[in-house]
Amino acid sequence: MALPKSKVIWFNGEFVPWDEAQVHVLSHVLHYGSSVFEGIRAYQTPQGIAVLGLEAHVDRLFFSCKVMNMEVPYTHDRISKVIIETIKKNEHQECYIRPLVFRGYGTLGVYPLNCPVDVVIATWKWGKYLGPEAIEKGVDVGVSSWRRMAPDTHPSMAKVGGNYINSQLVVMEARRLGFIEGIVLDVNGYVSEGSGENIFVIVKEKLYTPPLGNSILAGITRSFVITLAQEKGYTVIEQQVPREMLYMADEVFFTGTAAEITPVKTIDGRSVGKGERGPITKELQDEFFGLIKGEVPDRHGWLTPVA
Ligand SMILES: Cc1ncc(COP(=O)(O)O)c(C=O)c1O
Repeated sequence: MALPKSKVIWFNGEFVPWDEAQVHVLSHVLHYGSSVFEGIRAYQTPQGIAVLGLEAHVDRLFFSCKVMNMEVPYTHDRISKVIIETIKKNEHQECYIRPLVFRGYGTLGVYPLNCPVDVVIATWKWGKYLGPEAIEKGVDVGVSSWRRMAPDTHPSMAKVGGNYINSQLVVMEARRLGFIEGIVLDVNGYVSEGSGENIFVIVKEKLYTPPLGNSILAGITRSFVITLAQEKGYTVIEQQVPREMLYMADEVFFTGTAAEITPVKTIDGRSVGKGERGPITKELQDEFFGLIKGEVPDRHGWLTPVA
């Protein structure tokens, strides 16, 4: 499905009409994946539209830039303000927000530092990432034959465009095999994450999730869910997850800005628990969706109102 157009995109300091936000075909980023980006969502609450995890996402954007030696010509505060302004200008009820920092048109050697750093903030309307029924019914997934990047190859913790070559291979293979998403193992064969989501595995009412050392992106939804689960009294353990634990699990779910909290109902054709959304997954979803809809108090200050 084509991207639904919004009115404007913020591009290097100015708002330009959606169709005019263009780059040269010889921009460094197109050839070498030299971008970093974020994915953020804004939800409708009784107080109007509000951005979830704004500061955490902008922090991660700047952290990713630091890893890639990209000097952002705007402050953290300016980027946060422009995100809010872009949502206002596009008059969204709810939206997905994509800040993107990339190496633009300059030279075309691999060495990137002679290219300008360009900055874009785009917003658009985006529904359920893994399909409209996924949140309730769960999804069918498979363990990928591709491995996640080894720790001394790509910086998994930085949200770098080039990392998503791995994610594309994983999700293409998954779809070819009839799954909606793939689970990737790390270089040592331990569970890492989905192509665009973190993963939680529940065994006997304890939640397990791979630690940062297993080549994951340090997901912001992952950190929200860890907090919510602990507040509900659950034990959350960040530890290496062997593949077979996926098959032993009572419940498995993905977390991510795009996927939100999505239950996994089968893995490699084996049902997870009863093959439907489990009770702890539902309890955490209710808390999370309640919070982002403004029905549950935002006691952690995760929401930034746009108005
Ligand atoms: C590879 C990968 N892992 C995990 C996540 C989940 O991260 P977050 O919850 O910050 O969106 C994402 C999405 O950004 C991702 O692309």
